[in-house]
Amino acid sequence: MLEADARERVIVAIDCGRERALELADELAGHARWLKVGMTLFYAEGPQIVREMRERGFKVFLDLKLHDIPHQVRGAAEAAARTGADLLTIHGLGAGPMMAAAVDGASAAADGAERTTKVIAVTVLTSMDQQALASIGVTSPVAEEADRLARLASDNGVDGVVCSPQEAARMRELLGEGALVVTPGVRPAGAALGDQSRVATPSEAIASGASHIVVGRPITGADDPVGAFEAIVAELVERA
Ligand code: C5P
Repeated sequence: MLEADARERVIVAIDCGRERALELADELAGHARWLKVGMTLFYAEGPQIVREMRERGFKVFLDLKLHDIPHQVRGAAEAAARTGADLLTIHGLGAGPMMAAAVDGASAAADGAERTTKVIAVTVLTSMDQQALASIGVTSPVAEEADRLARLASDNGVDGVVCSPQEAARMRELLGEGALVVTPGVRPAGAALGDQSRVATPSEAIASGASHIVVGRPITGADDPVGAFEAIVAELVERA
């Protein structure tokens, strides 16, 4: 893979407070292209944190996992898109009309121009197993449920999915070449797993069909975050 392409494929999850997030952003500027702002940072700091990252030249993956009635989700997606976020998550479990409303809301933020905020769906959270699904009355196998929600997302105009590297190949097959397939649970060979269990290396995730990989602590917790990021880019250039 070309170096410029590799840089575009790695999303750095900055799961920390504002000060550290901005410090990391300043360090990674000129190296990383994407940052992921999750719920914790967003709820603490609000839309301003997304704008600050955008002003520093980053694309922002705003991981808010929206799930409410379609009217609310339309409004939330529009507001989220107005921060300049490039990628926004919603829950597939909100069903078709809610997913279509999210895409509508993101489109409305473009004020008649082409939509610039892509919307991707979480299918089944990786923290949920068969037993957890059964506890909320879902009896189909996890993989079948993930397939169903991914198809539903795609049928409702959603741009892709978030999934584990283990599901990436199946999602790519199901959704086709143009879809976004974004995978967390990525660890460079030798990196600490933290609380992640089923992991893949960056090049394995891309080879499985991921369009983008999300990597947090192996970069943000490293003594040299830029070095850790560059090592991932180098791995992708060499192996993907
Ligand atoms: O630090 P780490 O690389 O584990 O960070 C992964 C990021 O991806 C975190 O922001 C986490 O919330 C997110 N994520 C995940 N697994 C999922 C969905 C999201 O690790 N199934």
